[in-house]
Amino acid sequence: MNRLIVVSNRLPFALDSTGEDLWTVTPAVGGLVSAIEPVLRDRGGTWIGWPGIAGKIPEEPFAQATRNAGYKIVPVALSETERDEFYYGYSNEVIWPLFHDLQNFCNFDPAYWQAYKQVNVRFADAIARSARPDDFIWVHDYHLMYVAQALRERGVSQDLSRLTFFLHIPFPPYDIFAKLPQQQRLLRALLQFDLLGFQTRRDVRNFLQCVRRVMSDAKVVPRRELQLIRFEKREIRVGHFPIGIDFNSFENSARSDAVEQRAQRLRVTFPGCQLILGSDRLDYSKGIPERLRAFRTALELHSELRGHVVLIQIVVPSRVEIPKYHEFKQRIDRLVGDINGRFSTSTWLPVQYHFRSLDRDDLLAHYRGSDIAFVTPLKDGMNLVAKEYCACRIEQDGVLILSQFAGAAEQLKPDALLVNPYDIEQMADAILKAFQMSQAERSARMKRMRRVVRKENVFLWVNSFLKAGAKLGARAERLVRRRQVGVAP
Ligand code: UDP
Ligand code: G6P
Repeated sequence: MNRLIVVSNRLPFALDSTGEDLWTVTPAVGGLVSAIEPVLRDRGGTWIGWPGIAGKIPEEPFAQATRNAGYKIVPVALSETERDEFYYGYSNEVIWPLFHDLQNFCNFDPAYWQAYKQVNVRFADAIARSARPDDFIWVHDYHLMYVAQALRERGVSQDLSRLTFFLHIPFPPYDIFAKLPQQQRLLRALLQFDLLGFQTRRDVRNFLQCVRRVMSDAKVVPRRELQLIRFEKREIRVGHFPIGIDFNSFENSARSDAVEQRAQRLRVTFPGCQLILGSDRLDYSKGIPERLRAFRTALELHSELRGHVVLIQIVVPSRVEIPKYHEFKQRIDRLVGDINGRFSTSTWLPVQYHFRSLDRDDLLAHYRGSDIAFVTPLKDGMNLVAKEYCACRIEQDGVLILSQFAGAAEQLKPDALLVNPYDIEQMADAILKAFQMSQAERSARMKRMRRVVRKENVFLWVNSFLKAGAKLGARAERLVRRRQVGVAP
């Protein structure tokens, strides 16, 4: 088995300074960390990433935070300007909104691209220092799309047989991608990887469409499984690998006494009510205001819901320094206030709103204790919350209302109640449908969804990606050996 080197902007924790020589270590939230952490814990390897603070990385707190990880963690430092222009800027004010089809949220500041390249070069340097020729290098997500090009520009990549990439977020269709000022430079950079993985078939289709339209010197050769692109005398493979969760770990923890007791406490707090759960990072792609409006419409139109449903909306703070995120929080606050102001009675508050992250047991208790999960992103690479909810429904019940634009819809669509998150009335109807659904139907649907989530779990995801990469690796290794013995490739 080759050594695995995972490279991502986020590490599984973030350091934060709370005063001179005082540091806190907070677990990172988000699907990328949730998926990769169990994989590295299971197989070992190296994780290269940024520990979440600008400036010098404090040695002792970093050593403490990484001591018991079970794999090696290599930090990459960012200055304040780099954090602002690379992380907040190009990554989260250009690529993130654009790739979620929200072009009006983009800030195409030209300075951001330079910072993006510069930081990608820094990550490439860290890889070059850590990697051996036969390592499996797996770069993750939209922050690091320039890393392979940076490695090749340094001449490093010739010694590395596998240079692979996985995009956790969606890839947009050409009409939206074409708005990106660096469209050609970015595609060229992506084509420096040997294997490109996307979440869904739709993302692969969009990517290939963009390559065909923008890169006139690249040739797309359709294949049944992994697609092939010929570019600059190289072959690049492209495929979809839907990310999963560590199903057994969620299921087992959901069975624990601690989770059972907390779930029970949650249920008795709202007697006679079905609990509807929304849980998201604070992000405009998650469709939280639309969801709240749908809940309001459902209460307006269907009086039988009043006093009999509670929406628990958990919003986990995220990227709050970006102005759009801040404004978005205020919008949510106002909507929650409006709904509770209009509908609450002396014994019933329709929306329970928490702006904080939950510890794992608490999150699992919410999954276990809620009758309906309301997962309605405007667009999402996959959405692991939907899968985690299914894994925690150990009594094989519960209804999942799911956006048709979440990657998870490709796998769960026959049994989730699919909605268009822009269609407020349809979502309001889905709430009523979920509320009225019989136990038998809930159970039949949930059993099937659990089967899919159990089978297509995170270990299957990693194995299929590594297997696809290993095939390329075998060819590349032969080439390296031939070069070493002086045979023309
Ligand atoms: N999550 C968390 N703490 C919380 C709430 C959620 O760590 O308080 C996790 C959740 O378990 C899930 C991830 O955050 O694994 C969210 O992933 P998802 O794919 O749904 O969306 P993302 O945040 O990556 O866009
Ligand atoms: C999404 C992205 C991840 C990111 C996560 C949390 O899941 O795909 O790359 O780590 O959101 O966002 P953050 O900006 O805190 O890393």
